[in-house]
Amino acid sequence: MSFEIRPLSDALGAEVIGIDLTQPIDDAAFTVLHKAHLNYQVLVFREQQLTPQQQIDFSVRFGPLDKHPSQGKAHLEGYPDILVVSTKTENGKDVGIRNAGPAWHSDLAYMEQPALGSMLYALELPDSGGNTGFANMYAACEALPKDLREAVEKRRALFCSTRNKELKALHPILRTHPETGRKSIFVNPQLTHRINDMADDESDALLAEIYDHCRKPNFIYWHRWQPGDLTFWDNRCVLHIADHKRLDDPNYIRHMHRTTIAGDTPF
Ligand code: OGA
Ligand code: MN
Repeated sequence: MSFEIRPLSDALGAEVIGIDLTQPIDDAAFTVLHKAHLNYQVLVFREQQLTPQQQIDFSVRFGPLDKHPSQGKAHLEGYPDILVVSTKTENGKDVGIRNAGPAWHSDLAYMEQPALGSMLYALELPDSGGNTGFANMYAACEALPKDLREAVEKRRALFCSTRNKELKALHPILRTHPETGRKSIFVNPQLTHRINDMADDESDALLAEIYDHCRKPNFIYWHRWQPGDLTFWDNRCVLHIADHKRLDDPNYIRHMHRTTIAGDTPF
């Protein structure tokens, strides 16, 4: 099996060219993909024609899957491992999660064991809008001004689910990637509530500074989707966001399937 890996931007991300994910991936190819994922943090596979089961089969090569907490309402019928991210409605009800990424975040960061990675597969797309941003949190961590780094080093923050108030966890603000050993910034504006053992206003001010830093354009790759694209990002060192311009326009159809690979406890 021969395929090419081509970087997508200076920030992060690479496209895997010449691979058909409906076919079995042998161990040698898997090793190359795994290394590329660790290296580039986001992999993009274009022009795929995946059934839900084929997406699941490829996803589990990277580890057991996570049951998303809202899957009860938003999973694909018959496939509890597939979360539907969609603007479509059926009988006046959303068929999935309409906007999974209103702000920069890392998936399931409010769990004790947040997701290792997520695969998002585009089935239907609008003519324009609906890009996804990916931000390199290794690079953001390495470029943190000294005073900011000292203020948050060794500290933890409280993360809370926006949908289920019971789901919360404390995680290090700077985490160490369990496979690469590199440090990254883990806090995010969608799910981080406040810095542990710090007054609210001090925590808010510090987090706002960190978020401004993390959102600098040189850390970011914007993915413009085409139908058949599968993106696979590493939630341990990447933040992502959906950029929707017309979310309430009934003609704005964006329909995707997500699988989520389970991760471990951040340290
Ligand atoms: C997600 C997510 C972003 C998007 O599915 O986890 O954040 O662009 N999606 O839909
Ligand atoms: Mn997400």
